[in-house]
Amino acid sequence: MRDAVRPVSREEMESQRELAEQIRKRPDRPRTYHIITYGCQMNAHDSETLGGMLESMGMNKSLERDEADLILFNTCCIRDNAERRAMGNIIFTKEIKKKRPELLVGVCGCLAQQEGFAEKLRTRYPHVDFSFGTGEIYLLPQRLLSALEGRREDAFQRGEDSTLYEGLPVLRTSPFFAYLNVMYGCDNFCSYCIVPMVRGRERSRDLREIVKEAEALVKDGVKEIMLLGQNVNSYGTDLGKARFHDLLHALSDTGVKRLRFMTSNPKDLSDELIREMADNPAVCLQLHLPAQSGSDAVLKAMNRRYTRDWYLNRVRALREAIPEIGLTTDLIVAFPGETEEQFLETLSLVHEVRYDSAFTFIYSPRTGTAAAKLEGRIAPEVATDRIQRLIKAQDEITAEVLHSLIGQEALVLAEGTSKRDQKQLTGKTARGTACNFLGSADQIGQIVKVKITGQGSNTLKAIQI
Ligand code: SAH
Ligand code: SF4
Ligand code: F3S
Repeated sequence: MRDAVRPVSREEMESQRELAEQIRKRPDRPRTYHIITYGCQMNAHDSETLGGMLESMGMNKSLERDEADLILFNTCCIRDNAERRAMGNIIFTKEIKKKRPELLVGVCGCLAQQEGFAEKLRTRYPHVDFSFGTGEIYLLPQRLLSALEGRREDAFQRGEDSTLYEGLPVLRTSPFFAYLNVMYGCDNFCSYCIVPMVRGRERSRDLREIVKEAEALVKDGVKEIMLLGQNVNSYGTDLGKARFHDLLHALSDTGVKRLRFMTSNPKDLSDELIREMADNPAVCLQLHLPAQSGSDAVLKAMNRRYTRDWYLNRVRALREAIPEIGLTTDLIVAFPGETEEQFLETLSLVHEVRYDSAFTFIYSPRTGTAAAKLEGRIAPEVATDRIQRLIKAQDEITAEVLHSLIGQEALVLAEGTSKRDQKQLTGKTARGTACNFLGSADQIGQIVKVKITGQGSNTLKAIQI
C-alpha cells in the first residue's frame, strides 16, 4: 500500500473559486464556450466538470464551435489517429481566430498532460492561449485568467502530476444518467498504453465522498450511474481499506436503480466482486472485460499479467454466477511480433467467449511506452487484414447473440427518441444492449418493461408490455 494521495486542499480550491469570481466580473471575459471532447468516458466526464466550471464563471454553452468566444479542446492520445484528429482541429482554430482575434483557445486532456506538450503549444502555436493537464482541471480559473491578462508563461505552466480534487461543479449532459469517478490514473503499465503517463498514478477517492456524490445524484433524479476508473476493480488498493465490491455494496444503499462500471482489468476480477455483482440488484448484467489478446505470448509482451486460461476461468465464473451477463471487450491486433498463429488465438478467444460486442484496434505505437521500443512491427496491410477478419467474426457472433435474446423480456432506461424515428424511444437494457421501442416522450427517463421482438445490426427492437 502506498501513501494515499492527499486531495487538493480546501484553501487551494477556495482560491480557485475566488479567481473564477474575478473572471466572472471582468468585462473582457468570454461569454460563450464550446468544448470539443475526444477519447473515453473519463474525458466525457471531465468535460462535464469543465462545463460546470465555465458556467460558474458566467459563461453559456454555444452549440456552434465557430460562434463561441472560448473553444476548449479536451484531447485524447490513446492512438495516433486520436492525437492527429485533435491536433488537426486545434491547428484549424488559427483560421477562426484570423476572423475573430478575440477568440480564446484552450487545450486540456491527455495530450496536454504529456511531458513537453504544453511547452510545445506555447512556443509553436501562438494562437493557442492556455493549457492544463488531466490532473489540473481545478486550475482552469487560474489558467484562463493568466490568458486574459496576457501572462503566457503562467497560462501554460505545468503543475503536480497526481492530484485528487473534490467538489467541482458538474454540468451533467443527462438528467437521469451520470458518470461518477471512483478513481483516477492507472498503475498497470500495459506495455502499449500511454494512460499511466497521461493520467498519473492510481488514486482512489474516499468511499464516503463517492457515496455522498451518488446520494446527491439520486436525489437529483439520476437512475443510472456509470462508475469510472481506468481500472475500477482495483479500487481501494492504494487506500488499503474498502475494495471495489465494498463500494458497490455501499452504493446500492443510495437507492440508485442501476450501476454500471468501467473499465475492469481481468487480473483484478475477484470472486468477491463476482458475488457482489450477482447479489446486488442495482448492478447491471453487463461487464466490459478487455482481453486485448487471446495469446499468452502476446499477453505477456503486453504486460497484462493474466493468461488466456485465467481470462477464460473468470468468464466461466461470471457466467456461472450470472448466466444472463452480457460481456464486451477490447482487442488489439498486430502488436509487435504478433504471428498469424497468435492472431488466430485471439480469433478463437472471440469464438469461445462469444462477446455481445467488441472494440477492435490496430496497435499504435505510443512514444514513452515500453512496446514502442519493440521490434517486429507488423505491416499495415497485414494489420488491416487481421482486424477485418476479427470484426467479421465478432459481427456474426453479435448477430447470433442478439437473435438469442428475441422473445425475452427486458428493462430499458428510456434515454431519448431515436434519431431515425421520433416515435421510437431508445435506451439500454440491463445487459447494455441498445434497444428501440414505440413509446411517448413523457417516458424518457423512466425504466420501461419491454419484450424483445427483433434485431438490427447492433440494436434490439422491442414492444412495451
Ligand atoms: N483501462 C482500460 C483501457 C483504456 S484504453 C483497460 O485497461 O482496459 C481503451 C482501449 O484502447 C484499451 O483497452 C486497448 O484495447 C486500446 N489501446 C490502448 N492503447 C493502445 C495502443 N497503443 N494501440 C492500440 N490500441 C490501444
Ligand atoms: Fe492502459 Fe493497461 Fe492501465 Fe488499461 S490497465 S489504462 S490498458 S495501462
Ligand atoms: Fe484517451 Fe486519455 Fe481516455 S488518452 S482513452 S482520453 S484516458
